[in-house]
Amino acid sequence: MDNFDVCIIGGGPAGYVAALKLATFGFKVAVIEKERIGGTCLNRGCIPTKVLYSKAKYLSRLKSPAAGFSIDGYKINYDEIIDYKDKVVGLLAGGVEKLLKARNVTVFNGTGRISFAPDKKKSLPAKISVGYNNKTTIEFDANDVIIATGSTPAMIPSFNIDHKNIVTSDEILSMRAVPSSMIIIGAGVIGCEFANVFNEFGVNIIMLELLPSILSTEDKEVSRFIHKIFKAKGIDIRTSVAVETINSVDNGAVVTLKSGEKIEAEKVLVSIGRNLNTKGIGLEEAGVSIDPKGKIAVDMHNETSVKGIYACGDITDGPMLAHKASYDAVIAAMSISGKSKEKDYNILPWSVYTSPEIGTVGLKEGDKALENVKYRVGRFSYGANGMALAMEEPEGFLKVLTEEGTGKILGASGTGTDIAGLIAELAAFMHFNGSIEDVEFTIHSHPTISEIVPEAVLDSIGEAIHKANPRTVRK
Ligand code: NAI
Repeated sequence: MDNFDVCIIGGGPAGYVAALKLATFGFKVAVIEKERIGGTCLNRGCIPTKVLYSKAKYLSRLKSPAAGFSIDGYKINYDEIIDYKDKVVGLLAGGVEKLLKARNVTVFNGTGRISFAPDKKKSLPAKISVGYNNKTTIEFDANDVIIATGSTPAMIPSFNIDHKNIVTSDEILSMRAVPSSMIIIGAGVIGCEFANVFNEFGVNIIMLELLPSILSTEDKEVSRFIHKIFKAKGIDIRTSVAVETINSVDNGAVVTLKSGEKIEAEKVLVSIGRNLNTKGIGLEEAGVSIDPKGKIAVDMHNETSVKGIYACGDITDGPMLAHKASYDAVIAAMSISGKSKEKDYNILPWSVYTSPEIGTVGLKEGDKALENVKYRVGRFSYGANGMALAMEEPEGFLKVLTEEGTGKILGASGTGTDIAGLIAELAAFMHFNGSIEDVEFTIHSHPTISEIVPEAVLDSIGEAIHKANPRTVRK
């Protein structure tokens, strides 16, 4: 077998992006992937859930049409929705496979494992083996290695996940019909995205959350706003609740709480976080530092404690996000190619697809990093934006933090239609160290949702144009 310049274990948004980038730089690259290229995001995460999200939005419009329309009856063919979801996933995964082929990246189907020749004292090249059906099929050397093996849904033994009645986010996407009722354990990002979708499809939902609030990592105002909306839609949210066991029964499952109460539903979705896939790759033997939870320690270039071995995505520090994984991959590829660049997660945007969706970038109120910073908060409501009203999407707000004195944008959070676009704009301003004035004198097209950005930013100094009683603090 030919040897490679770089071997990447894992073909998700970290692994395949690293491969494409390194191939562009002229490296001979191998990717080892045990399932289909694309990882969780493309096959079982971001993309398939966004198909369901978009269908749920469409359904919401059918149920409650825009002013001036009435619709006499409709039928949901959920089976066709799942076919469409599979088609979108297939198209995108096939597209990535074609890109890898076009750039001469070799893809091996199997599980990758790393080792060093005993006489080499852990110095590269590393020996890579590819296993398939528990047998080693191929072996080769690689001068650099990137580990990008991602994560899988966390499971607790007493939750007895049977992948039928008690499921994780992996199986729920393949259900061919919607259940009548569902208990969702964990009201984090995954739990809330599925609660939003299945509520729209008419499923009776009970959410059980250990912490005192849903979406506890989001801005508190945003989390309260979504809680209120979920409640108004009839989702039964129970916070500060501890689950003892879950057991499958005929046509459903029973959740027993620590209080002794029992709740039954046709399906139980367990979405309580994710475990890291860092076992069985030979990392410990290779001397790579891993913490007890399986997280790999990396430096500012995503290089692990062993020179020439890099790690990217969910298995390293920072949030579990596909775009963070791809960013990590580019940082590692730059380092391998000698064009070194240090990573910086301070301006990392993200969105959560509830209705309305949530968006965040940079710092938010309550963050430790704001303890010694003097900042102001600006807010602007979707209800005061012409385009949002025209689109009949008046729900939501954008909140921006600016630094006193410098006027620097420190962060933004909010919820509302297309909020991800507003957050992306603010992320760009932050990247270039932008201030209130930079936003104010960037002309925003009218009528657009984007006009909310300068209004919220200017509101932080009391100068929003379309807000009553403005009062500047600017000298
Ligand atoms: P999460 O960490 O967002 O939420 C898990 C929730 O479960 C937490 O609120 C936690 O308090 C609760 N919990 C934990 N144990 C529990 C128990 N025994 N009983 C009741 N509640 C319990 O994890 P989640 O939702 O599984 O998502 C995993 C990762 O995937 C997240 O880090 C997220 O960033 C990422 N993701 C990102 C998306 C996006 O960017 N739109 C979409 C989906 C996932």
